[in-house]
Amino acid sequence: MIAAAALFAVVASSASARQFTVTNNCAFTVWPAMFTDPNVSDAIPDHATGWEAAAGSTESFEVPDNWTAGRIWGRTGCDFSAAQDQTSCTTGGCNGGLECDKASGTGVPPVTVAEWTLIPDGEDNYDVSLVDGFNIPLTVTTTVDCPEASCPKDLNPGCPDELKLAGADGKTAGCRTACSANLDGDASNSPNCCSGDFDTPDKCPADGVEYYDYFKGGCPNAYAYAYDESSGTALWTCSGASAADYTVTFCP
Ligand SMILES: *[C@@H]1O[C@H](CO)[C@@H](O)[C@H](O)[C@H]1NC(C)=O
Ligand SMILES: *[C@@H]1O[C@H](CO)[C@@H](O)[C@H](O)[C@H]1NC(C)=O
Repeated sequence: MIAAAALFAVVASSASARQFTVTNNCAFTVWPAMFTDPNVSDAIPDHATGWEAAAGSTESFEVPDNWTAGRIWGRTGCDFSAAQDQTSCTTGGCNGGLECDKASGTGVPPVTVAEWTLIPDGEDNYDVSLVDGFNIPLTVTTTVDCPEASCPKDLNPGCPDELKLAGADGKTAGCRTACSANLDGDASNSPNCCSGDFDTPDKCPADGVEYYDYFKGGCPNAYAYAYDESSGTALWTCSGASAADYTVTFCP
């Protein structure tokens, strides 16, 4: 009886949450941030939406197993003493300061973003997105035999000059997309942004996006522009029945 009850408890708890682990393997402090689009989902992780991660540190927490439109990214060069907003960090800053605002606390580009929609009765969807540009390398791995989503390469040193975001030390802190660098001068009607006359997959092919090859070539298993699903190596799936736990590693 006791054994059966204990087994039931284990099964019940593993079916209602997933374990997420965020490891900072960078040689510098990163301020991880997490956001759930409140317009899409009421399944919000019961965990701080931002924290400080010293070099080499790891943080684990549970997220609902139907976490939808969730994202995690790393912020660099943060100082929350003066401002508690998007300007608090060199890259990835959010409204709210250390803890990102739950309604509007998305990260400022350029930033490498890991994204999930977990579907326990279907397939988890996840990716590492460069749609908002790049700031630090990261990988997403699972505890089951599902594919790694990744941008393990540091895309800052080779970033084309016109896309570079310089940090206070003069080094490249991030690499912007052609869209956010506004290379073609009209973000509202742009093949780089897949906007206006270019707002469908057919009308916004990868080869019309300037510097697509720089991002996709460096990180082939990342989502490198708005309609990158056709590459077959952008969006990853894992059977919801596997109830995968996920690990995010900065500077893998
Ligand atoms: C949610 O919807 C409101 C109202 O349409 C909008 O102002 C807000 O930007 C949306 N939030 C996000 C994170 O997209
Ligand atoms: C997620 O699951 C919880 C608990 O079963 C439920 O209340 C909630 O509505 C679900 N949310 C979504 C977005 O499916």
